[in-house]
Amino acid sequence: MKPVLEGTVALVTGASSGIGAATAAVLADRGAAVALAARRRDRLEELAAGVRSRGGTALVLECDVTKQDQAAAAVERTATELGRLDTLVNNAGVMLLGPAAGAPLAEWQEMVELNVLGLLYCAHTALPHLRRAAADGPRQVADMVNVSSVAGRFARSGNGVYALTKFGVGAFSESLRQELAGQYVRVSLVEPGATATELASHNRPEVLESIRNQFGQRMDAGDIADAISYIVTRPRHVAVNEMLIRPTEQQR
Ligand SMILES: NC(=O)c1ccc[n+]([C@@H]2O[C@H](COP(=O)([O-])OP(=O)(O)OC[C@H]3O[C@@H](n4cnc5c(N)ncnc54)[C@H](OP(=O)(O)O)[C@@H]3O)[C@@H](O)[C@H]2O)c1
Repeated sequence: MKPVLEGTVALVTGASSGIGAATAAVLADRGAAVALAARRRDRLEELAAGVRSRGGTALVLECDVTKQDQAAAAVERTATELGRLDTLVNNAGVMLLGPAAGAPLAEWQEMVELNVLGLLYCAHTALPHLRRAAADGPRQVADMVNVSSVAGRFARSGNGVYALTKFGVGAFSESLRQELAGQYVRVSLVEPGATATELASHNRPEVLESIRNQFGQRMDAGDIADAISYIVTRPRHVAVNEMLIRPTEQQR
């Protein structure tokens, strides 16, 4: 693969599994130095070792992005230790499904804290760095990719609060896109459909049982990583604003 991201630095949140891990690996293969943020250090170390074995640069950032100080520190450490920040992939997320009636309030809080506040904390600290990267970087453009979901376009019975968080990510992304377009900081929204990752496994057993047959065909994390790689490697004058990606057989 052509190293079109050479000289740039990308921070990926939720890099310890699924879409985040696959994205970090692809961006590293395209030449970016990658900062890997999540709570499970062992998984990040494993991914970093793989990146380094292929000649890349990786920085492990063990952090909980729902804690504002840890999210800010992850962004600042990326800029300090890798020298700059050209690309932020706001990917960390959690999906806890089931009927709203009787749902544990803690699950709603967890989704809002990670999918909304965690993303905002990272975005807030990253913005000055991204603006600087667009002004003086090797590619003269910077990227924030926010990972939403099909649920950020269509709410369904049983996914109300997850959809709420992802609709919010869409609204924030579009507003920020308009604000930063003239400064060559591109803000993109990626909306995956069913993808084989650990995401659903965090649901309660009774919810898992009820959604077992809901998901048919699934994409691989690499399919979404491929889309994110496409977005951030466009020439400076091209911005992919939004990408909705489903497995071919997924109807809704
Ligand atoms: N899989 C799908 O079908 C699908 C569909 C649509 C959208 N998405 C979205 O894709 C994104 C990635 O999900 P995935 O499918 O790849 O699921 P996943 O395998 O469960 O990955 C989630 C990632 O988020 C990290 N994370 C969780 N809590 C965190 C916290 N407090 N601080 C930092 N990192 C945290 C996890 O790492 P640690 O546990 O190590 O912290 C993990 O790396 C999510 O935003 C999800 O909503 C997925």
